[in-house]
Amino acid sequence: MESLVKYPCRNTLFQELLDIYGSPLYIYDADKLRQTINFINTSVRYKNTQFRFASVTNGNVSLLKIFQNCGWGLHANTPGDIYLGLKAGFAPENIVYSGSNLNHDEMLQVLEWGIRTLNLDSVSQLELFCEVYSLFVESQSPGLRIKLGLRLNYPDLTGDSRIGVHPDEFARACIIARQVGLKITGLHFYRGTGTNATTAFTEAIETVFNIAKQLPDWEYLDFGGGFGYPYRHNGVEFDWEFFGTELTHSLENLDIPIELVIEPGRAAIAGCATLLTKVVSIKWQKDKQIVGVDTTVGNLSVPSVHGGYREIIAYPTTSTSNLYFTDVCGNTTYSRDYLGRNCHLPALSINDIIAILDVGAYGYAMSSHFLHRPRPAEVLLENGKHRLIRKREDYSVLLANQVI
Ligand SMILES: Cc1ncc(COP(=O)(O)O)c(C=O)c1O
Repeated sequence: MESLVKYPCRNTLFQELLDIYGSPLYIYDADKLRQTINFINTSVRYKNTQFRFASVTNGNVSLLKIFQNCGWGLHANTPGDIYLGLKAGFAPENIVYSGSNLNHDEMLQVLEWGIRTLNLDSVSQLELFCEVYSLFVESQSPGLRIKLGLRLNYPDLTGDSRIGVHPDEFARACIIARQVGLKITGLHFYRGTGTNATTAFTEAIETVFNIAKQLPDWEYLDFGGGFGYPYRHNGVEFDWEFFGTELTHSLENLDIPIELVIEPGRAAIAGCATLLTKVVSIKWQKDKQIVGVDTTVGNLSVPSVHGGYREIIAYPTTSTSNLYFTDVCGNTTYSRDYLGRNCHLPALSINDIIAILDVGAYGYAMSSHFLHRPRPAEVLLENGKHRLIRKREDYSVLLANQVI
């Protein structure tokens, strides 16, 4: 089977996949994913860099294994991210946790799983961590090597965010850590998701460094997360080369050797996936085409629920050069169930294939059972073959865990 990237005319391949696996269907192109991973690797040339994939965007274990095989670690927002990462085979020391609001048992679970790099979100979470850590060390693991960092809250850079610790609190945080024999060695900066303006990152470098230097034991910098992806294919693109060069240059000019962590989510995985769906209904409202498809924002919540845009390509059986304003509508009556609005598409027929592009990040991961539609299957295209990497759900999932 050919690679999706090289052959834009996909109709036959898509038809074959839909015949085998059913519709709707998430498909992932492993070649394209590897190309993106390599591109990011070569853009950030700083010697002491560790790449960690932010699996909040996509937790399919088969895809996580690709990151692992390419030498990346994992970035976890939640204990669930860690759980999936361990199942995918990441070594605990290659998983960095930078989440929010764990309770006592979850904090303990993270330590029990062997996670040793934690970027904490508040002084209160630090206090809880120190309490759990002390008991943990006493009971079983003396000499544990922990890398402890703080997520940065600095409104000039991080906006009006609930996340992070303000530099005014750093001194108190260092005292709390020292009481249990630990040091705060890391600063974690997260700019906010989907930022295509490269300067929003490069112009922050100096300020972030100056803030990090307020930590007396500063050893590592985690710079996010948040890098954009050009969903509009002629739109602004995040400039990885420029970003990597600027960051490398600034780090090399420091008089202390700093370890760098980069944890892209969306930028790494968005572009390798497509959601295939079939036309099930067509009507015209004056000269506007209203196309009903067999998927829903429950299967792909991003576009209409979060105001995002995903390019939509149609594969009409009847060829025509005329394009019409078209709404691509989901298979529920939910008022926001649009996969795309005012798309320019040819006149379509029942069973025509529609491809929704760039759905690798926050696609399946944000799908839900809202609207009570089971989730699609996921298929991986790799080395000229395709294979199922997640089964299609049936209606029984809607009853799972219900006590009747
Ligand atoms: C700390 C952190 N890092 C990385 C990510 C991934 O972000 P993105 O997909 O924008 O790269 C997130 C997303 O929530 C995050 O909270």
